[in-house]
Amino acid sequence: MVSRVIPVDPFDLVIFGATGDLARRKILPGLFHRFAVGQMPEHARIVGAARSDLDRAAFRDLVGGSLLEFAPQASGQKGLVNRFLEKLDYVRVDVTGTKGWPELAELMRPDVIRAFYLSVSPTLFGAIADNLNEHGIATPDSRIVVEKPFGHDLASAKALNADLLNGFAEHQIYRIDHYLGKETVQNLMALRFANSLWEPLWNSTHVDHVQITVAESLGVEGRGGYYDRSGAMRDMVQNHLMQLLCLTAMEPPSRLHPNAVRDEKVKVIEALEPVEPADIVRGQYRGKGAADGYRDHAGDPDSRTESFVAIKVNIGNWRWAGTPFYLRTGKKLRARTSEIVVMFRDPPHMMFPKTEGLRGNALIIRLQPDEGITLRTTIKEPGPGGLRLAEVTLDMTFADALGPHAEAQDAYERLIMDVIRGDQTLFMRGDEVEAAWAWADQIIANWEDARQHPAPYDAGSSGPEDALMLMHRDGRRWREIEA
Ligand code: BG6
Repeated sequence: MVSRVIPVDPFDLVIFGATGDLARRKILPGLFHRFAVGQMPEHARIVGAARSDLDRAAFRDLVGGSLLEFAPQASGQKGLVNRFLEKLDYVRVDVTGTKGWPELAELMRPDVIRAFYLSVSPTLFGAIADNLNEHGIATPDSRIVVEKPFGHDLASAKALNADLLNGFAEHQIYRIDHYLGKETVQNLMALRFANSLWEPLWNSTHVDHVQITVAESLGVEGRGGYYDRSGAMRDMVQNHLMQLLCLTAMEPPSRLHPNAVRDEKVKVIEALEPVEPADIVRGQYRGKGAADGYRDHAGDPDSRTESFVAIKVNIGNWRWAGTPFYLRTGKKLRARTSEIVVMFRDPPHMMFPKTEGLRGNALIIRLQPDEGITLRTTIKEPGPGGLRLAEVTLDMTFADALGPHAEAQDAYERLIMDVIRGDQTLFMRGDEVEAAWAWADQIIANWEDARQHPAPYDAGSSGPEDALMLMHRDGRRWREIEA
């Protein structure tokens, strides 16, 4: 495959929280990779802004170390690394005070794109946005990028939106959901809207149900403090799984324009029906022998936070009425795997004798690992004798079909370049985030009111038994979670 790299326009990117974990692991290595392939232009500049008492040289050293640790392309590329590091500057800024802002203002160049990446606690968004405006650093064309968690509930998300909209217009605000930057997640749009094959079948007449699974094998080790205040519903479902649901369920946008795509996603969220308590299963992984359980990781022996959630969701619109979407995500499960399974209905009439074990047509879109598509079909079992049916899969792993991506990019790389290009398609709009919270809040309120305890499950399993029952009682079953 020939890949084309079109350099973006020169920019000044200021990273608040530049010495933090996300900047060191994802943002700066991502930028380095874009520089290495020629997408980040020579005239670009990255300014670290943080509380730490560093100067430019010390910041460059720090980033150099992060690249060696987190950017595989950096090793053995000393010259390239040094050229990248020359693009870095550093300003010590007190984001809630006055120190550092005039120096930052001084550094900004006229006539290049300005972007401000807030890789800091959401409690600081408002102060930073205000200071950027008060010190004349933000221009009407500059962009502001914020990370999740974007709020803890609808009220806090509204407050964050208000903080940002105080100094920036919606077209300047880039709310990151890194799932939207994943190659296969975008592929969902290509699969649905660049092929004529699927769209006629993509509705409740032909689709029995949809399963969306994002399973992780790791626990919450080291992040227990944050996670325990959020849980799987807030950490994964309200954002990442919701985005996958929207891209799977939305109507075809009229064009590939940020608002055309986001309008369609908002319509899906607004069409979600209230979820009955019986349609939700919450779980929490338990310890076994020497292995710690969730409560050990969270540091709270009585924690009622869920590390697993499975939900049956109904979309009340013409296309999907009668076709449930089953969502499931959890930590410490059997394998790390994310996939969307579109299960088609059985043929209306079967002229063949009943064959045990046939599961019907399914389109399986694997997001990670081994991104690809599998189509399960029914055929005649080869050989003499009576006509027996069997299942085969038409399997395509993108890496096999297209060659290993010479140009493989992390979600963050794409998203940052989109910020510079001014393309908001893969970012969440304010009303979209609020709609997703309004939906999630009502579900969370139900279990909080009931003071419900999540069901325990073993690390390395597929989650609690009840999650299997959620499907079984409807005469359906989850696809196995497999690596
Ligand atoms: C993050 C969540 O947003 O996404 C984490 O906070 C989760 O809890 C992570 O582990 C999963 O992302 P990925 O890209 O590894 O699937």
